[in-house]
Amino acid sequence: MAIVTSKDMFEKAYKGGYAIGAFNVNNMEIIQGITEAAKELSSPLILQVSAGARKYANHTYLMKLIEAAVIETGLPICVHLDHGDTFELCKSCIDGGFSSVMIDGSHHTYEDNVKLTKQVVEYAHDHGVVVEGELGRLEGIEDDVKVSAADASYTEPNQVEDFVKRTGVDSLAIAIGTSHGAYKFKPGTKPQLRFDILEEVEKRLPNFPIVLHGASSVIPEFVQQINQYGGQMPDAIGIPEDMLRQAAKMAVCKINIDSDLRLAMTASIRKYMAENPSHFDPRQYLKPAREAIKAMVARKIVDVLGSNGKA
Ligand code: G3H
Ligand code: 13P
Ligand code: ZN
Repeated sequence: MAIVTSKDMFEKAYKGGYAIGAFNVNNMEIIQGITEAAKELSSPLILQVSAGARKYANHTYLMKLIEAAVIETGLPICVHLDHGDTFELCKSCIDGGFSSVMIDGSHHTYEDNVKLTKQVVEYAHDHGVVVEGELGRLEGIEDDVKVSAADASYTEPNQVEDFVKRTGVDSLAIAIGTSHGAYKFKPGTKPQLRFDILEEVEKRLPNFPIVLHGASSVIPEFVQQINQYGGQMPDAIGIPEDMLRQAAKMAVCKINIDSDLRLAMTASIRKYMAENPSHFDPRQYLKPAREAIKAMVARKIVDVLGSNGKA
């Protein structure tokens, strides 16, 4: 197998009523944990790299680690730029071997978003790379930039046809009430997503793959474990898994997960350090952290995404 685009994955996921997990990667243990789970469950996979991940780990290191994972697992893996914000960043990832890029023009005016997205699509398609665009704006933290609730906005269903037609994007991220990071809903409130907007989008764009960002469930056991072993996380609430299952059955073909990986890894390392205060070999605490990621991803693939056996 090789690095592939998400085209086939999305076509099958749309028809089959399941979704592909798009997991953010920053280092070797995260890549190994995710890809080992996908291999055991024969699941297609998107590994996504943010600008921050590229800054932290370096493009070439991440690319080579992902190429190693393709060799080790024999899986079709799509390598995707998460939240590209300029043409230059998208071009650099396309030139550097990514098979998919997101151009997130959601912070621009509609017309500027169309213009920038179209420019990326033209370059990407000339190079056999697919593009995800975004309409609507999610609350939360991306690359250290905080988008406040006041600046967040739901996707306007009446814009989606025009946007897809004029830009030529291959998939579209929409805002229906999910948000980035661990604090998605106010403590004491009931999580709610605007499935009515998703339905409207689906009607206007038949058979077109929709992307859900900010889709971590903020798994409570990890938050409890972090706080049990010295952490001080405030009440954190994520997207209920039954809502993600519902979205996966609809037009949502790509579900983005980063915070749950961070929580799994941190919970495991905190526990290990608290129980073994004299240990100092990083392999000793990174091994269980990798296992925790693997177990979490495996459960998501089976219980939430439904992509097991689809590779
Ligand atoms: O949507 C944002 C992702 O969680 C990536 O986060 O920009 O801190 O790497 P990052
Ligand atoms: P979470 O913060 O909910 O994991 O969202 C990740 C994401 O959308 C990456 O683009
Ligand atoms: Zn995102």
